[in-house]
Amino acid sequence: MAPQYGRSGPSRPPIDLIDPDLYERGGIPHDQFAWLRDNDPVHWHADPNESVPGFWAVTRHADVVEVSRRADLFSSAERGAMFAENDPADLELYRLMILYMDPPDHTQRRSMVNKGFTPRMINQLEEHVRDIAHQLIDAVAAKGEADFVEDISAPLPAYVICELLGAPVEDRDRIYRWSNQMIGFDDPEFSGSREIGKQTAAEIFAYAGELAALRRAEPRDDIATKLLQPDASGHALTDEEFQLFVLILVIAGNETTRNASSGGMHALFQHPEQWRRLLEDRSLLRTAPDEIVRWASPVNQFRRTAMADTVLGGKQIKKGDKVVVFYGSANRDERAIDDPFTFDVGRDPNPHIGFGGGGPHFCLGTHLARLELSVLFEAILDRMPDIRLAAEPRRLRSNFLNGIKEMRVEFTPSAPR
Ligand code: HEM
Repeated sequence: MAPQYGRSGPSRPPIDLIDPDLYERGGIPHDQFAWLRDNDPVHWHADPNESVPGFWAVTRHADVVEVSRRADLFSSAERGAMFAENDPADLELYRLMILYMDPPDHTQRRSMVNKGFTPRMINQLEEHVRDIAHQLIDAVAAKGEADFVEDISAPLPAYVICELLGAPVEDRDRIYRWSNQMIGFDDPEFSGSREIGKQTAAEIFAYAGELAALRRAEPRDDIATKLLQPDASGHALTDEEFQLFVLILVIAGNETTRNASSGGMHALFQHPEQWRRLLEDRSLLRTAPDEIVRWASPVNQFRRTAMADTVLGGKQIKKGDKVVVFYGSANRDERAIDDPFTFDVGRDPNPHIGFGGGGPHFCLGTHLARLELSVLFEAILDRMPDIRLAAEPRRLRSNFLNGIKEMRVEFTPSAPR
């Protein structure tokens, strides 16, 4: 259903897009975004934290794409790419990760990790991903009930990252625990605190150093080995670059994918006719992952800093101003997406920007995320065709991630495979 504000009204919804409680209460505030897209698409947003000036909230698809593509004008390195990131000490570390770099440093580093994420490399993981999905379903099949997040959507991407790094199976749970500790800083119930996040980053660093040594000593046919070995032009990741890369995989590859699968499952509960379409026609698993990412928009926003005075959506942006792009809003913009408030697992073409607006930082894990979503939903359709929602989901308290932290489900019990 389209939101109540937006088309007609002089009535303006209350606008505080960074209140994490807002997202915990109701998910993406579509009413507010619709109003902004129609009435004030590049909106000056005050920051309640008085030591930090406000920012421009960019809500239309075309403007998010422009900011994303103009990395020369809208920097990720200057002040970081995360909205919450204001501590210069954190920035020092994070600036070494590709998400926080600008071209040409970004271009060089990204080209080195791209080779591990080509469709060919990722397709090699398909059978492993399928095995993991079935193992997770095996563990709950006989019970007839589960927490979709804790039992299925959260461990899946953590275990896949283990596989991708060639990490030993016995390390899976450690990587899973780290992935939980790196997220939801705003949500005390979830991860604890920024301090725990920092300690976890240090543990991941140490672990990745050991893994690099192991893979150099015993090369295998996996992505980690590929990144650590010189390519045709003689480039290989140093230990430190590899450690940073593992850190960003744990941060970027886990909670995004878990929230896409949980958000997708929830959307399918709310649209049972779309679940029936998938049950009857598995070829829709080709288009469903992108519609799920559009609908759930697991990453709500990223931030940039203007490097020169410029005009965006008719507004005068000053050098140094912070600019925040809201993917969850852009993905419901009817100027770019037909009938955006209809969830359609067969949507094709689907010009959503849930993986980013197409600039140099466009999500490195796009192929992997699509693969995980299609393989997971195929396994659920096969083994839990009557899956249903047992209790309303509990959402993550975060303005950065559109997350679900608990979602009880029921289904007819069955034997493990
Ligand atoms: C960047 C979304 C899964 C790795 C991004 C960005 C978004 C995003 C919005 C920023 C794009 C920009 O600034 O233009 C998602 C969503 C996912 C997902 C919605 C799941 C449905 C993954 C996975 C991995 C991954 C599975 C890796 C295993 C990365 C990395 C970057 C990134 C490394 C930084 C790229 C750069 O700065 O060049 N992702 N992501 N993501 N993502 Fe994903």
